[in-house]
Amino acid sequence: MINWWKILLTIIFPVFIYLVFFCRIHWVRHLDSKKKAYYARVKLRNIQDSNPVYPNGWFAILDSHELKKEGVKHVTALGETFAVYRTKNGDVHILDAYCPHLGANMAEGGKVIGNCLQCPFHGWSFRPTGECNNVPYSDRIPSNARVRAWKSLEVNNLIFVWYHAEKEDPQWFPQPITQLANNSYWCQGRNEYIINSHIQEVPENGADWAHLTALHGPGMFLDSYLPGLSRHSWTDTDWKPRPDHLPQETPARPHEAFAALSHTLILFNKFSLMHLRIIAEQIGPGYVELTMNTGFGKIFIIQTVTPVEPFQIRVTHSVYSTPWNALFGKIIFLGECFMFERDVHVWNHKVFLKNPLLLPEEKKIKAFRKWYKQFYSANSPTYHSIKSLEW
Ligand code: FES
Ligand SMILES: [Fe+2]
Repeated sequence: MINWWKILLTIIFPVFIYLVFFCRIHWVRHLDSKKKAYYARVKLRNIQDSNPVYPNGWFAILDSHELKKEGVKHVTALGETFAVYRTKNGDVHILDAYCPHLGANMAEGGKVIGNCLQCPFHGWSFRPTGECNNVPYSDRIPSNARVRAWKSLEVNNLIFVWYHAEKEDPQWFPQPITQLANNSYWCQGRNEYIINSHIQEVPENGADWAHLTALHGPGMFLDSYLPGLSRHSWTDTDWKPRPDHLPQETPARPHEAFAALSHTLILFNKFSLMHLRIIAEQIGPGYVELTMNTGFGKIFIIQTVTPVEPFQIRVTHSVYSTPWNALFGKIIFLGECFMFERDVHVWNHKVFLKNPLLLPEEKKIKAFRKWYKQFYSANSPTYHSIKSLEW
């Protein structure tokens, strides 16, 4: 007689182990990628009131695993077209993608040769510094045969590009997180969103405590079937431009800000569980490291916010936990996706108000805006300066 239970368990158990411990969830939502709809909506919004669209700082443009050795990737971000390539020894370089010879995109079919990138169209090749070092059919290399080279950084499994409207060199760098550098924490899930919004809206969330109860208070998953089943309580919120935990003697790090909050899941208005203390370090205009202290150990959420073009931003979150805490890491990841999509829906349809109607209780939003201003400079592109160049 066939033992169906045995057969079922032999199949289900390994699948369960694989899904929980070895699989990494990919969650991609390009919620509004139809360009026509995007432009129609931006025109309807009050764009006059907006801040510059590309702040100065490090912006994540790829996950490390997306760029293999001797590989090249075509990335659009910050209104630029980048050719991002990795040499045989693992170094990453970023060049302007368009070849100055006849305009081919070197990220589409280009070859990595040594530490140079070779254009697929006629074989000219370019050093990491941007100079042309070889034209295969001539000894004459024009002195102006060069492309712009961009400063890059690879840390925490991400590849960053440095953007500065005044072309200044970086004064600060995202630092490696030990648990990610030594692989003791594994990525349990990564999400990616394209959002029609100003970049500043996303980090401003950290200083906006009042939206937590309204937007993130209602329960998830089964609540539409069982109203009153659960709700999320958010307390002990804080936002300040200097992290508390830094010793006084630490050199000033004006590019960093600090947010904190506590979460509790309340069932049937009675039972409290999943108490989490969340600390977020905002490092520059588009990169955040969140640490969740849970009863099962630490969980890290790495958030990147990168402008693609005016009022179009790409946001990613990667959730890391120890391998033995993978199940909880995945639950946190899915919860984070659902909660974040509530914000996305608001951002996709709101306007950016330079002078919002804030109450005294909301002074942290003002403090955040004052802090964020440091990432704009005299020549930071605005929606209008970019559009006047395009049209
Ligand atoms: S277009 Fe690149 S080598 Fe000719
Ligand atoms: Fe939010």
